Amino acid sequence: MNVYEAATKRRSIRRFEDKPVPYEVLQKCVDAGRLAPSGRNQQVCEFIIVNDAELLPEMFDTIGGSVKMPPEKGGPRPENTPKGYFVIVINRLLEEDPNRRRITLYDIGMAAENIILTAFEEGLGCCPIMMFKEEAIKSVLGVPEDYDIGLVIVTGYPEETSVAEVATDSTTGWVDENLVRHVPKRKLEDILHHNGF
Ligand SMILES: Cc1cc2nc3c(=O)[nH]c(=O)nc-3n(C[C@H](O)[C@H](O)[C@H](O)COP(=O)(O)O)c2cc1C
Repeated sequence: MNVYEAATKRRSIRRFEDKPVPYEVLQKCVDAGRLAPSGRNQQVCEFIIVNDAELLPEMFDTIGGSVKMPPEKGGPRPENTPKGYFVIVINRLLEEDPNRRRITLYDIGMAAENIILTAFEEGLGCCPIMMFKEEAIKSVLGVPEDYDIGLVIVTGYPEETSVAEVATDSTTGWVDENLVRHVPKRKLEDILHHNGF
């Protein structure tokens, strides 16, 4: 799989096979994440991998959004919940200046996409999750005071199909009667400007 293929074929996945994900595979994804571009190369992001079967339900309680939809609306049945979590944490001591947070958010996005694309190449599906309970995650994972939670990425082997389609009137995704996810994307010619707006 080449980079273009991964970037264009990847979709967010919210239902997963009931199959564990080896730590080595998740570690490879984080290795790609840590080498992502970083503002001033300060590398304030650190990463927690969670794939312990006992921790997975506790982690699932800390997140929200579409991944928590009921099964008939495309959410996971209990056996299809995420089988791994990447938690991107921000080391505030390295960040030094609170005004750096604006840059840190870009760093998180860059690292996250490296992780997600590497996971995709490894046969995994992912979904970035902004809706999370920060204090609950810190408590479950024992995250020290000097760290903030930047982003959660759920992962596992996909148990759903998600297809990108041309957006017409709306960009809101939807799930059909076969539980296939449809993701409207704006057309290239509608968003691309060449040599000026
Ligand atoms: C910054 C960010 C935060 C997101 N947060 C959530 C979330 O909390 N819950 C969720 O189910 N999906 C979340 N998503 C996934 C988006 O819903 C998804 O990327 C979008 O619907 C487009 O689908 P695609 O990723 O398949 O292209 C998030 C995506 C991004 C980039």
